[in-house]
Amino acid sequence: MVVGQSTARKDQFVTPSIHGQRKHKIFVYLESWQASWRIYLRIIALLRPHWLPSLGTLVCLGLSTGFALIVPWLLAWVIDVGVHSGHFTDLLLAAGAILLASASRGLFAYGQGYLSQAISCLVAYDLRNQVYDHLQRLSFSFHDESETGQLMSRMTVDIEAVRNFIPMGLLRALLAVVTFGAISILLLQLDWRLALVTLLSVPILALLAVQVARRLRPLWLQVQNETGALGTVMQESLSGMRVVKAFAREEFETEKFETKNRELRELNLAAMRLSAWNQPLMVLALNVITVLVVWIGGVVVIGHRLSIGTLVAVTQYILLLGSPIRTLGYVVTWFMRGLSSGTRIFGVLDTEPSIIDAPGALVLPRVQGHVRFEHVSFAYGNGTEVLHDIDIDARPGQVIALLGATGSGKSTLLHLLPRFYDVTSGRVTVDGQDVRKVTQASLRRNVGLVLQDVFLFNATLRDNISYGVANATEEQIVTAAKVARLHDFACSLPDGYDTWVGERGVTLSGGQKQRVAIARTLLLDPGILILDDATSSVDMETEYLIQQALDAVMRGRTTFVVASRLRTIKHADQILILEKGRVVERGTHESLLAYGGLYTRLYDLQLREQEEFEARVLASYPYRDKDEQTSNRKAKSTKQSTDTVDTGEMREVTR
Ligand SMILES: Nc1ncnc2c1ncn2[C@@H]1O[C@H](COP(=O)(O)OP(=O)(O)OP(=O)(O)O)[C@@H](O)[C@H]1O
Ligand SMILES: [Mg+2]
Repeated sequence: MVVGQSTARKDQFVTPSIHGQRKHKIFVYLESWQASWRIYLRIIALLRPHWLPSLGTLVCLGLSTGFALIVPWLLAWVIDVGVHSGHFTDLLLAAGAILLASASRGLFAYGQGYLSQAISCLVAYDLRNQVYDHLQRLSFSFHDESETGQLMSRMTVDIEAVRNFIPMGLLRALLAVVTFGAISILLLQLDWRLALVTLLSVPILALLAVQVARRLRPLWLQVQNETGALGTVMQESLSGMRVVKAFAREEFETEKFETKNRELRELNLAAMRLSAWNQPLMVLALNVITVLVVWIGGVVVIGHRLSIGTLVAVTQYILLLGSPIRTLGYVVTWFMRGLSSGTRIFGVLDTEPSIIDAPGALVLPRVQGHVRFEHVSFAYGNGTEVLHDIDIDARPGQVIALLGATGSGKSTLLHLLPRFYDVTSGRVTVDGQDVRKVTQASLRRNVGLVLQDVFLFNATLRDNISYGVANATEEQIVTAAKVARLHDFACSLPDGYDTWVGERGVTLSGGQKQRVAIARTLLLDPGILILDDATSSVDMETEYLIQQALDAVMRGRTTFVVASRLRTIKHADQILILEKGRVVERGTHESLLAYGGLYTRLYDLQLREQEEFEARVLASYPYRDKDEQTSNRKAKSTKQSTDTVDTGEMREVTR
């Protein structure tokens, strides 16, 4: 898309008025033609792994054309020699030969048709795999900027256009060239004047084709882009259906879709109109040539310089030219579609992943979990810096809690650790190794993530839990589920762990989904754990369950947790307060409270009331282990002060 758009833009900006600019225009055309040829060559190169069937197609094409060309020659012989000689056997032989040639032609035409379609399917299969594989390897930054609908249309519509280009464009063009060439040579041998008339049509047809192609090309590029845009509209409103319904915006969405759909229809119609014009023009050119040949041929026959048989053969040959020329209109269309779709597909394939393993990258063994951020700054793309000079030293097994207003950069900071993005300056190390110097796979095996928005696959509960570990045993899955406080729930489901959780796991509640995500990460048994708001947006009791699960998960691992819950924060070894991408305060719960800065304010506003709530939940929740009872007692003992604080907080608010 990117390449195509820039070419289209280039085309628009050229004005032909001044001499210098005209030169520029020629230069631009040359460049654009070069780029086009490169795309065609790349599509043709896709045939390389299937060279045998491709060769078979070419052989069939050659033979079917050859047999087709024999027939008029045989006809001429029948008229000129067979009829004159008066031998029935000669006629019978000639008729048999004509039949045989026609049958052979049919057979090889079938071979050519079947093989060309077959190789196009093989190419489409390869291309789909290639693009999909590449999309999997592309970095976060690419996926941040791409629309799912556009990518999906490349995977489907564009690949289909490239597939069709092979039998409908490339092969038919080849057929036209071969037929034209062979007939020209044959005509040259029969009568040079007639050959000359036929060859006269070449520049006319070429000019027509180029003219139409030039106008068709941007149109088809627009059609493919709009098809992608329509896909985006569709994908967005379907996957956001709950929001659409909640805001009663069905009509708005329908209208949005209709507008895009209409635009696409208009573009398609415009392209079709242009394509449709093309064909009658070509046929007209062909008819003019036929008339010319018959007329000139007639004159020559009358002058006794040409036999009637030869004239019949010549007209037969001209008629044979009809079918490739008639399809030439469509050939041009498929060439342009192949070009625009090829441009879009290769645009994706040529995008290099911005995060790649360094040459000779080390494989990170199981880590102890010593994580350091050293003077780390970061900006998304070319945007403004969102993290400034961050320093963190997380010792193995420590819990680092991150606090800060929304948009302060907590998630961004955590995404640098598994190297979803590369730092702009400074470095992130794990056990002393710069994350840019180890393989991504080994790094990510050691860093477990529970992301802010949980995504589950359309599969069973078991498959979702074991997503990161291909050969996980039943026991491992159940253990992970137990730690994530998911096991009881799983057992209560009709099919247990084999329950299908539906598209995007919609049959699960928010809290259940989060616990699946925790179990999934836990199964990896990573040395470093990242929990980005793993307890957001769930009810208080579920949150308590998740919190319990998390406590178990965090044991013995270096954990980074975006915390909004006091329980986690209080147990953290280090608390970092982020503000606008800077660490503005750091310390433990006690030291930060004593400091009396931003943390104290946050604590007063948000955290104190949780203490009271937790005490209530703990008192009423039946499954308490010793550890929790202790915190329960602690929570109860602070209840008195909580009450006082509540009043204090109200004062704060009224003020
Ligand atoms: N993919 C992205 N591309 C460009 N900018 C981004 C991207 N993701 C986040 N940002 C910007 O970076 C800044 C920090 O965002 P981040 O998601 O790290 O905040 P956060 O602290 O996690 O917030 P929250 O508490 O709401 O999750 C924000 O200004 C945001 O607009
Ligand atoms: Mg976040």
